[in-house]
Amino acid sequence: MDNFFVVILVALTGAVQFSLEQNMRSNINTDTDVKGPQFVKTRFWLYTKESRETGQEIFVNDDESVINSNFDAKNPTRFFIHGWSDRATSISAVQIRSSYLDRQDYNIFTVDWNNNGKSTNYVMGRINVNETGQQVADFIGFMEENHGLNLNATFLIGHNLGAHIAGIAAKGFKNKDVPINTIFGLDPALPLFSINDPESRLAIGDAKFVETIHTNGGQIGFQAPIGDAAFYPNWGRRQPACFYESDGTCSDQLVTSYFAESLDERYEYLGKECGSYDNIRDEKCPTAGTAHKLVKMGGDLVDNTIAGVYYVPVDEKYPYVVTNKTWIDNLVK
Ligand SMILES: *[C@@H]1O[C@H](CO)[C@@H](O)[C@H](O)[C@H]1NC(C)=O
Ligand SMILES: *[C@@H]1O[C@H](CO)[C@@H](O)[C@H](O)[C@H]1NC(C)=O
Ligand SMILES: *[C@@H]1O[C@H](CO)[C@@H](O)[C@H](O)[C@H]1NC(C)=O
Repeated sequence: MDNFFVVILVALTGAVQFSLEQNMRSNINTDTDVKGPQFVKTRFWLYTKESRETGQEIFVNDDESVINSNFDAKNPTRFFIHGWSDRATSISAVQIRSSYLDRQDYNIFTVDWNNNGKSTNYVMGRINVNETGQQVADFIGFMEENHGLNLNATFLIGHNLGAHIAGIAAKGFKNKDVPINTIFGLDPALPLFSINDPESRLAIGDAKFVETIHTNGGQIGFQAPIGDAAFYPNWGRRQPACFYESDGTCSDQLVTSYFAESLDERYEYLGKECGSYDNIRDEKCPTAGTAHKLVKMGGDLVDNTIAGVYYVPVDEKYPYVVTNKTWIDNLVK
Protein backbone atom coordinates (compact mmCIF):
# COMPACT_ATOMS: atom_id res chain seq x y z
CA MET A 1 0.00 0.00 0.00
CA ASP A 2 2.74 2.40 1.04
CA ASN A 3 4.80 1.52 -2.02
CA PHE A 4 1.84 2.07 -4.27
CA PHE A 5 1.36 5.52 -2.79
CA VAL A 6 5.02 6.37 -3.32
CA VAL A 7 4.83 5.31 -6.98
CA ILE A 8 1.79 7.53 -7.56
CA LEU A 9 3.49 10.41 -5.78
CA VAL A 10 6.65 10.08 -7.83
CA ALA A 11 4.60 10.00 -11.02
CA LEU A 12 2.68 13.13 -10.03
CA THR A 13 5.82 14.96 -8.99
CA GLY A 14 7.39 14.03 -12.31
CA ALA A 15 4.41 15.39 -14.21
CA VAL A 16 4.47 18.70 -12.37
CA GLN A 17 8.19 19.02 -12.89
CA PHE A 18 7.86 18.15 -16.56
CA SER A 19 5.26 20.86 -17.21
CA LEU A 20 7.40 23.41 -15.39
CA GLU A 21 10.39 22.46 -17.50
CA GLN A 22 8.30 22.82 -20.66
CA ASN A 23 7.23 26.22 -19.45
CA MET A 24 10.84 27.22 -18.81
CA ARG A 25 11.95 25.96 -22.19
CA SER A 26 9.30 28.04 -23.90
CA ASN A 27 10.67 31.06 -22.05
CA ILE A 28 14.17 30.64 -23.38
CA ASN A 29 15.59 33.94 -24.41
CA THR A 30 17.19 33.23 -27.77
CA ASP A 31 18.82 36.64 -27.77
CA THR A 32 21.12 35.67 -24.95
CA ASP A 33 24.88 35.72 -25.17
CA VAL A 34 25.26 33.13 -22.44
CA LYS A 35 26.12 29.80 -23.99
CA GLY A 36 27.36 26.37 -22.94
CA PRO A 37 29.93 25.45 -20.29
CA GLN A 38 32.94 26.32 -22.45
CA PHE A 39 31.80 29.97 -22.38
CA VAL A 40 31.25 30.26 -18.63
CA LYS A 41 33.41 32.98 -17.13
CA THR A 42 32.74 33.31 -13.44
CA ARG A 43 33.79 36.60 -11.84
CA PHE A 44 34.45 37.40 -8.19
CA TRP A 45 33.88 40.75 -6.51
CA LEU A 46 35.20 41.46 -3.02
CA TYR A 47 33.42 43.67 -0.49
CA THR A 48 34.78 44.53 2.96
CA LYS A 49 34.10 47.23 5.56
CA GLU A 50 36.61 49.44 3.73
CA SER A 51 35.00 48.83 0.35
CA ARG A 52 31.35 48.28 1.21
CA GLU A 53 29.82 49.80 -1.87
CA THR A 54 32.44 49.26 -4.55
CA GLY A 55 33.44 45.71 -5.36
CA GLN A 56 37.06 44.90 -6.03
CA GLU A 57 37.40 42.32 -8.75
CA ILE A 58 39.76 39.45 -7.96
CA PHE A 59 40.97 37.09 -10.66
CA VAL A 60 41.93 33.48 -10.19
CA ASN A 61 45.72 32.96 -10.30
CA ASP A 62 46.34 36.71 -10.28
CA ASP A 63 48.20 37.46 -7.04
CA GLU A 64 48.38 41.18 -7.78
CA SER A 65 44.62 41.48 -7.80
CA VAL A 66 44.51 40.01 -4.28
CA ILE A 67 47.42 42.04 -2.92
CA ASN A 68 45.87 45.25 -4.26
CA SER A 69 42.52 44.48 -2.62
CA ASN A 70 41.26 44.66 0.96
CA PHE A 71 41.22 40.86 1.31
CA ASP A 72 42.28 39.97 4.87
CA ALA A 73 42.81 36.28 5.62
CA LYS A 74 42.25 36.93 9.34
CA ASN A 75 38.59 37.76 8.69
CA PRO A 76 35.91 35.18 8.01
CA THR A 77 34.90 34.80 4.37
CA ARG A 78 31.46 34.46 2.80
CA PHE A 79 30.60 33.79 -0.85
CA PHE A 80 27.17 34.77 -2.15
CA ILE A 81 26.21 32.93 -5.34
CA HIS A 82 23.14 34.44 -6.97
CA GLY A 83 20.25 32.52 -8.52
CA TRP A 84 18.65 31.98 -11.88
CA SER A 85 18.16 35.14 -14.01
CA ASP A 86 19.66 37.20 -11.20
CA ARG A 87 22.97 39.02 -10.91
CA ALA A 88 25.79 39.67 -8.45
CA THR A 89 24.72 43.30 -8.04
CA SER A 90 21.01 42.65 -7.46
CA ILE A 91 19.10 43.80 -4.42
CA SER A 92 19.41 40.37 -2.79
CA ALA A 93 23.20 40.40 -3.11
CA VAL A 94 23.34 43.94 -1.72
CA GLN A 95 21.04 43.07 1.21
CA ILE A 96 23.07 40.03 2.16
CA ARG A 97 26.50 41.62 1.90
CA SER A 98 25.33 44.72 3.81
CA SER A 99 23.80 42.62 6.58
CA TYR A 100 27.08 40.80 7.03
CA LEU A 101 29.18 43.96 7.02
CA ASP A 102 26.85 45.59 9.56
CA ARG A 103 27.90 42.86 11.99
CA GLN A 104 31.69 42.97 11.62
CA ASP A 105 34.36 42.85 8.95
CA TYR A 106 34.35 39.96 6.51
CA ASN A 107 35.66 39.13 3.09
CA ILE A 108 32.40 38.99 1.15
CA PHE A 109 32.70 37.67 -2.36
CA THR A 110 29.74 38.03 -4.66
CA VAL A 111 29.97 35.61 -7.52
CA ASP A 112 28.79 36.58 -11.01
CA TRP A 113 28.21 33.45 -13.10
CA ASN A 114 25.76 34.87 -15.56
CA ASN A 115 27.51 37.72 -17.30
CA ASN A 116 25.85 40.26 -15.01
CA GLY A 117 22.36 38.86 -15.40
CA LYS A 118 22.40 38.56 -19.18
CA SER A 119 20.59 35.26 -19.44
CA THR A 120 17.19 34.23 -18.19
CA ASN A 121 17.68 30.81 -19.69
CA TYR A 122 17.17 28.34 -16.86
CA VAL A 123 18.14 25.28 -18.86
CA MET A 124 21.46 26.81 -19.88
CA GLY A 125 22.09 27.92 -16.30
CA ARG A 126 21.42 24.35 -15.20
CA ILE A 127 23.72 22.90 -17.84
CA ASN A 128 26.45 25.28 -16.69
CA VAL A 129 26.18 24.43 -12.97
CA ASN A 130 29.03 21.89 -13.03
CA GLU A 131 31.44 24.18 -14.85
CA THR A 132 30.49 27.20 -12.74
CA GLY A 133 30.93 25.18 -9.54
CA GLN A 134 34.33 24.06 -10.77
CA GLN A 135 35.40 27.66 -11.43
CA VAL A 136 34.28 28.65 -7.92
CA ALA A 137 36.28 25.71 -6.53
CA ASP A 138 39.36 26.80 -8.52
CA PHE A 139 39.04 30.29 -7.11
CA ILE A 140 38.66 29.04 -3.53
CA GLY A 141 41.65 26.72 -4.00
CA PHE A 142 43.77 29.60 -5.32
CA MET A 143 42.80 31.84 -2.40
CA GLU A 144 43.52 29.07 0.09
CA GLU A 145 46.90 28.04 -1.28
CA ASN A 146 48.28 31.46 -2.15
CA HIS A 147 46.52 33.87 0.19
CA GLY A 148 45.71 32.03 3.40
CA LEU A 149 41.94 31.72 2.98
CA ASN A 150 40.72 29.64 5.94
CA LEU A 151 38.16 27.13 4.68
CA ASN A 152 37.04 26.50 8.25
CA ALA A 153 35.93 30.14 8.39
CA THR A 154 34.38 30.09 4.91
CA PHE A 155 30.64 29.82 4.23
CA LEU A 156 28.96 29.58 0.83
CA ILE A 157 25.49 31.04 0.46
CA GLY A 158 23.74 30.08 -2.77
CA HIS A 159 20.27 30.94 -4.06
CA ASN A 160 18.31 28.48 -6.24
CA LEU A 161 20.75 27.44 -9.03
CA GLY A 162 23.48 29.11 -6.95
CA ALA A 163 22.81 26.64 -4.11
CA HIS A 164 23.83 23.77 -6.37
CA ILE A 165 26.84 25.74 -7.67
CA ALA A 166 27.88 26.06 -4.01
CA GLY A 167 27.45 22.33 -3.52
CA ILE A 168 29.50 21.43 -6.59
CA ALA A 169 32.22 23.91 -5.56
CA ALA A 170 32.40 22.50 -2.02
CA LYS A 171 32.52 18.84 -3.09
CA GLY A 172 36.11 19.38 -4.22
CA PHE A 173 37.12 20.10 -0.59
CA LYS A 174 34.91 17.72 1.33
CA ASN A 175 37.55 15.04 1.81
CA LYS A 176 40.29 17.44 2.88
CA ASP A 177 41.43 17.77 6.51
CA VAL A 178 39.63 21.10 6.62
CA PRO A 179 36.51 21.16 4.44
CA ILE A 180 34.39 24.24 3.82
CA ASN A 181 32.62 25.05 7.06
CA THR A 182 29.03 25.79 6.07
CA ILE A 183 26.72 26.06 3.07
CA PHE A 184 23.37 27.80 3.17
CA GLY A 185 21.20 26.63 0.30
CA LEU A 186 18.48 29.25 -0.17
CA ASP A 187 15.53 27.62 -1.92
CA PRO A 188 17.74 25.18 -3.87
CA ALA A 189 16.46 24.84 -7.44
CA LEU A 190 14.36 21.80 -8.34
CA PRO A 191 13.78 21.59 -12.12
CA LEU A 192 16.30 19.34 -13.88
CA PHE A 193 17.88 18.24 -10.58
CA SER A 194 17.23 14.86 -9.05
CA ILE A 195 16.96 13.74 -5.46
CA ASN A 196 18.67 10.53 -6.63
CA ASP A 197 21.74 12.25 -8.05
CA PRO A 198 23.51 13.98 -5.14
CA GLU A 199 26.76 14.28 -7.16
CA SER A 200 25.08 16.80 -9.46
CA ARG A 201 23.48 18.97 -6.77
CA LEU A 202 23.85 20.42 -3.30
CA ALA A 203 23.89 17.52 -0.85
CA ILE A 204 24.53 16.64 2.76
CA GLY A 205 28.28 16.24 3.35
CA ASP A 206 29.39 18.88 0.81
CA ALA A 207 30.50 21.02 3.78
CA LYS A 208 30.81 20.30 7.50
CA PHE A 209 27.30 21.69 7.83
CA VAL A 210 24.65 22.18 5.14
CA GLU A 211 21.48 24.13 5.93
CA THR A 212 18.67 24.64 3.46
CA ILE A 213 15.77 27.09 3.61
CA HIS A 214 12.79 26.17 1.45
CA THR A 215 10.31 28.84 0.37
CA ASN A 216 8.82 27.51 -2.84
CA GLY A 217 8.98 23.75 -2.42
CA GLY A 218 7.95 21.61 -5.37
CA GLN A 219 7.76 24.47 -7.87
CA ILE A 220 11.04 26.35 -8.39
CA GLY A 221 12.66 24.90 -5.26
CA PHE A 222 13.29 21.49 -3.76
CA GLN A 223 10.83 20.56 -1.09
CA ALA A 224 12.66 17.52 0.22
CA PRO A 225 15.44 18.16 2.73
CA ILE A 226 18.87 17.75 1.08
CA GLY A 227 21.17 19.04 3.85
CA ASP A 228 21.71 18.46 7.57
CA ALA A 229 18.99 20.84 8.67
CA ALA A 230 16.05 22.07 6.57
CA PHE A 231 13.90 25.08 7.45
CA TYR A 232 10.42 25.59 5.98
CA PRO A 233 9.02 29.10 6.27
CA ASN A 234 5.24 28.75 5.88
CA TRP A 235 5.75 24.98 5.34
CA GLY A 236 8.05 25.70 2.40
CA ARG A 237 5.09 26.68 0.22
CA ARG A 238 3.98 30.00 -1.20
CA GLN A 239 5.09 32.77 1.16
CA PRO A 240 2.49 34.96 2.93
CA ALA A 241 4.00 38.15 1.44
CA CYS A 242 3.45 36.81 -2.09
CA PHE A 243 -0.34 37.22 -2.30
CA TYR A 244 -0.94 36.99 -6.03
CA GLU A 245 1.92 34.89 -7.24
CA SER A 246 1.37 32.06 -9.70
CA ASP A 247 4.84 31.25 -10.97
CA GLY A 248 6.65 30.97 -7.64
CA THR A 249 9.33 33.56 -8.33
CA CYS A 250 8.22 35.88 -5.52
CA SER A 251 8.42 33.12 -2.90
CA ASP A 252 11.69 31.83 -4.31
CA GLN A 253 13.17 35.34 -4.18
CA LEU A 254 11.90 36.15 -0.70
CA VAL A 255 14.26 33.65 0.90
CA THR A 256 17.15 36.06 0.27
CA SER A 257 15.34 38.73 2.30
CA TYR A 258 14.69 36.26 5.12
CA PHE A 259 18.34 35.29 5.12
CA ALA A 260 19.57 38.90 5.12
CA GLU A 261 17.18 39.62 8.00
CA SER A 262 18.43 36.58 9.93
CA LEU A 263 21.91 38.15 9.91
CA ASP A 264 20.54 41.20 11.70
CA GLU A 265 21.41 40.79 15.37
CA ARG A 266 18.05 42.22 16.44
CA TYR A 267 16.17 39.33 14.90
CA GLU A 268 15.98 35.64 15.45
CA TYR A 269 14.00 33.43 13.10
CA LEU A 270 12.87 30.44 15.10
CA GLY A 271 12.02 27.13 13.53
CA LYS A 272 10.04 24.48 15.31
CA GLU A 273 11.26 20.93 15.00
CA CYS A 274 8.63 18.79 13.27
CA GLY A 275 10.09 15.28 13.29
CA SER A 276 9.84 14.27 9.64
CA TYR A 277 9.54 15.62 6.13
CA ASP A 278 6.16 13.85 5.88
CA ASN A 279 4.90 16.11 8.65
CA ILE A 280 6.13 19.18 6.79
CA ARG A 281 4.34 18.02 3.64
CA ASP A 282 1.17 17.46 5.65
CA GLU A 283 1.63 20.88 7.27
CA LYS A 284 1.55 19.57 10.81
CA CYS A 285 3.86 19.24 13.75
CA PRO A 286 2.39 16.44 15.85
CA THR A 287 3.48 16.10 19.45
CA ALA A 288 4.35 12.43 19.27
CA GLY A 289 7.95 11.59 18.50
CA THR A 290 9.47 15.06 18.44
CA ALA A 291 10.91 17.36 21.04
CA HIS A 292 9.57 20.43 19.24
CA LYS A 293 12.85 22.20 19.84
CA LEU A 294 12.98 25.84 18.78
CA VAL A 295 16.08 26.40 16.64
CA LYS A 296 17.46 29.47 14.94
CA MET A 297 17.26 29.58 11.14
CA GLY A 298 20.06 31.25 9.15
CA GLY A 299 22.13 33.79 11.03
CA ASP A 300 25.86 33.61 11.21
CA LEU A 301 27.09 31.86 14.35
CA VAL A 302 25.96 28.52 13.16
CA ASP A 303 25.24 25.66 15.50
CA ASN A 304 26.42 22.89 13.24
CA THR A 305 25.11 20.13 15.46
CA ILE A 306 21.51 20.76 14.46
CA ALA A 307 19.72 18.35 12.17
CA GLY A 308 16.18 17.66 11.10
CA VAL A 309 13.25 19.58 9.66
CA TYR A 310 11.79 22.80 11.04
CA TYR A 311 8.61 24.75 10.44
CA VAL A 312 9.17 28.52 10.52
CA PRO A 313 6.30 30.99 10.89
CA VAL A 314 6.84 34.22 8.95
CA ASP A 315 4.99 37.50 8.72
CA GLU A 316 3.43 38.83 5.51
CA LYS A 317 5.27 42.12 5.68
CA TYR A 318 8.75 43.36 6.47
CA PRO A 319 10.28 42.55 8.87
CA TYR A 320 9.16 39.03 8.09
CA VAL A 321 10.53 37.55 11.30
CA VAL A 322 8.06 36.41 13.99
CA THR A 323 9.53 37.28 17.35
CA ASN A 324 6.94 36.08 19.87
CA LYS A 325 8.46 32.87 21.24
CA THR A 326 5.42 32.00 23.33
CA TRP A 327 3.25 32.20 20.27
CA ILE A 328 5.60 30.03 18.23
CA ASP A 329 5.85 27.56 21.07
CA ASN A 330 2.06 27.19 21.16
CA LEU A 331 1.77 26.60 17.42
CA VAL A 332 0.87 23.41 15.63
CA LYS A 333 1.44 20.83 18.34
C1 LIG B 1 36.78 25.11 12.86
O1 LIG B 1 35.95 26.12 13.39
C2 LIG B 1 35.21 25.71 14.51
C3 LIG B 1 34.30 26.87 14.89
O2 LIG B 1 33.35 27.04 13.86
C4 LIG B 1 36.15 25.32 15.65
O3 LIG B 1 35.40 24.86 16.75
C5 LIG B 1 37.08 24.22 15.14
O4 LIG B 1 38.04 23.92 16.15
C6 LIG B 1 37.81 24.64 13.88
N1 LIG B 1 38.54 23.51 13.33
C7 LIG B 1 39.76 23.63 12.83
C8 LIG B 1 40.35 22.39 12.25
O5 LIG B 1 40.36 24.69 12.82
C1 LIG C 1 27.96 17.05 -13.23
O1 LIG C 1 29.07 16.36 -12.69
C2 LIG C 1 28.73 15.15 -12.04
C3 LIG C 1 29.98 14.62 -11.35
O2 LIG C 1 31.06 14.64 -12.19
C4 LIG C 1 28.14 14.18 -13.04
O3 LIG C 1 27.75 13.00 -12.38
C5 LIG C 1 26.92 14.83 -13.69
O4 LIG C 1 26.42 14.01 -14.70
C6 LIG C 1 27.26 16.19 -14.25
N1 LIG C 1 26.02 16.83 -14.67
C7 LIG C 1 25.91 17.54 -15.77
C8 LIG C 1 24.56 18.14 -16.06
O5 LIG C 1 26.85 17.73 -16.52
C1 LIG D 1 2.80 36.46 22.44
O1 LIG D 1 1.90 35.38 22.21
C2 LIG D 1 1.16 34.98 23.36
C3 LIG D 1 0.43 33.68 23.02
O2 LIG D 1 -0.32 33.81 21.84
C4 LIG D 1 0.25 36.13 23.76
O3 LIG D 1 -0.50 35.76 24.89
C5 LIG D 1 1.12 37.35 24.06
O4 LIG D 1 0.27 38.47 24.33
C6 LIG D 1 2.04 37.67 22.89
N1 LIG D 1 2.99 38.71 23.30
C7 LIG D 1 3.17 39.82 22.58
C8 LIG D 1 4.22 40.76 23.09
O5 LIG D 1 2.55 40.07 21.57
